[in-house]
Amino acid sequence: MARKATRRRFLESVGLAGAALGAAKTRSLAAMLEEGKPPILAAAETEKPALLGGKPVCRTNWPGWPKPRQSDEELVLEALRAGRWYRSRSVPEFEEKYAALNQAKYCIATSSGTTALYTSLGALGVGPGDEVIVAPYTFMASVTVILLHYALPVFVDSDRESFLMDPAKLEAAITERTKAIIPVHIGGNVADLDRILAVAEKHKIPVVGDACQAHLAQWRGRSAGSWGTTGCYSFQLSKNLCSGEGGAILTNDEAVADACFAFHNCCRGRPKGRGAVSYRFGRNGNFRMTELQGALLLSQMQGLEERANLRSENAAHLTKLLRQIPGIHPAKEYEGCTRNAYHLYMFRYDPSQFAGLSRTQFLQALHAEGVPASAGYNPLNKAGFLLDALRSEPYVRVYGKKTIDEWPARNECPENDKLCEVGCWLMHTVLLTTKENMERIAAAVAKIHKHAAQLAKA
Ligand SMILES: Cc1ncc(COP(=O)(O)O)c(C=O)c1O
Repeated sequence: MARKATRRRFLESVGLAGAALGAAKTRSLAAMLEEGKPPILAAAETEKPALLGGKPVCRTNWPGWPKPRQSDEELVLEALRAGRWYRSRSVPEFEEKYAALNQAKYCIATSSGTTALYTSLGALGVGPGDEVIVAPYTFMASVTVILLHYALPVFVDSDRESFLMDPAKLEAAITERTKAIIPVHIGGNVADLDRILAVAEKHKIPVVGDACQAHLAQWRGRSAGSWGTTGCYSFQLSKNLCSGEGGAILTNDEAVADACFAFHNCCRGRPKGRGAVSYRFGRNGNFRMTELQGALLLSQMQGLEERANLRSENAAHLTKLLRQIPGIHPAKEYEGCTRNAYHLYMFRYDPSQFAGLSRTQFLQALHAEGVPASAGYNPLNKAGFLLDALRSEPYVRVYGKKTIDEWPARNECPENDKLCEVGCWLMHTVLLTTKENMERIAAAVAKIHKHAAQLAKA
């Protein structure tokens, strides 16, 4: 009884009580609940879509990002007033804590996720003439770091269901020039590390994990970024842990940690106790994190676990609801993914199950219902900046015109092309709300599904 009353209050609060009770006349609420379909889903189906003049399902003020904390000001001001602007205390403390949090032996904080990836590749000696394998469903930085070393990116097609590198297609992409593999844990979903690392080990190729969107994500109970040779993180503003800009490299290999440290620190080696600074000569630069970033991260790390748990709980509820709607396919997780970071909540949209309503129209209808969803990435292997870089004079000089001319055909990713046509995202902030909001999102999708034919004609 108490449960029904709560449901009713909730339905009233979203303006669907009348419809729910109407639906209940023909099929009891209890029957709907038994089917595992929250009344709001059934109720929403009888309402007019907001795009066609109906009431929006979600009148939610979605949370903003970042989430400032009182301790942000305290720790940043402390570093600022103490004149500690160059890496000295906050950054090493953050490195130690971040390594421990991720069950890794070493952490090197960097100025960004891009420089974390760039440093990893540089420390591993990647350069002109080398090939680096990368996933195509990702942010451009996963590939720009390869270009910055004048290496040749080689794409391995996506597994459409998981949005991640298809591990079955990895081995065929390896040549004698392959110097590194970059699996990307996109949206916080973890790439199939068992299979990727097995292929990498067989061919003795280092794995640089792009965990820039995967804070606290885990593979078989261990941090996703602690597997492979290095794991790279971004703390850019949008990320689940952020300091405006910033990045980090994790590794369990002392020699790699030393090489990364020197690469990012103008040749100067990793401090090991007291004593003179050691130098490690070779390519290098200044890709250091500032103390102010370090202080902010030490503050923002508090609450990270709670936020991750809330995202996981809400994502699991949303997945359960969305799976009941034909044509909506939440991203598959591999069996070894023991924690998805849900930087993005990713799903595929099938217009054939929505009376041909295009993805653009679907997203417009969702926006009208108050759900801030967006279309995902475009095919990175076809990006203009990448093709321009590959056709530039230095690339043609290093690889020859034939290799460059043949590159697009060699790097076709047909599954990824299809994925880019149907992928949709919700940002992680949407998951930092309530279970009822997940039901509102599902209800909005259910409503659009029910009225798809009308919406398609509008
Ligand atoms: C998958 C991925 N890789 C790399 C990066 C680069 O990180 P940053 O923006 O901190 O340089 C990002 C950041 O957006 C990312 O999402």
